[in-house]
Amino acid sequence: MERILTTRQVRSTVRSLAARIRADYADQRPILVGVLKGSFVFLADLIREVNMPLEVDFVAVSSYGRGRASSGEVQFVRDITTDIAGRHVLLVEDIADSGLTLEELRRHFLGRAPASLRVCALLARASLLAGNPDAVDYVGRSVPDGFVVGYGIDFGEDYRYLPDIWVLEEE
Ligand code: PRP
Repeated sequence: MERILTTRQVRSTVRSLAARIRADYADQRPILVGVLKGSFVFLADLIREVNMPLEVDFVAVSSYGRGRASSGEVQFVRDITTDIAGRHVLLVEDIADSGLTLEELRRHFLGRAPASLRVCALLARASLLAGNPDAVDYVGRSVPDGFVVGYGIDFGEDYRYLPDIWVLEEE
């Protein structure tokens, strides 16, 4: 495994995202929707750095299951319970890989008439951003291809506990 972000780098990335969010959503009491499971560590740190009135909800989706490759299908495991009509919604992802999960979630939530809907991802693939620069509104870091783990992100449900972020070497 190769470490691509130390805990210090993760913290500074979260801080700079939080500063942008705080400035953009001042007095708007946004609803931050964490995309489970991967985003739970990031969201927990992010809201404490944002440190202003906001609400939190979660949606659970899965496209990778226990394998390394996306199944190409996004399965809804749990929906949010908050009424988002007329509210400012920010989807919070650990990593935007193909962008499929976010695309599906945008479609899903736009149908409920939020006042705004944006996306924040701690990590996004450089290849995704090159082809679709608007896929993510707030990007922490762009990352090269390779299977990323740690800070909430798993491989086969392992490694979520790591405080820093790593890329798994190919076997
Ligand atoms: C991962 C990750 C994102 C999604 C990104 O979730 O946490 O939600 O895949 O991939 P995409 O941009 O190609 O759609 P996963 O399906 O592994 O579920 P998990 O968060 O529960 O681990």
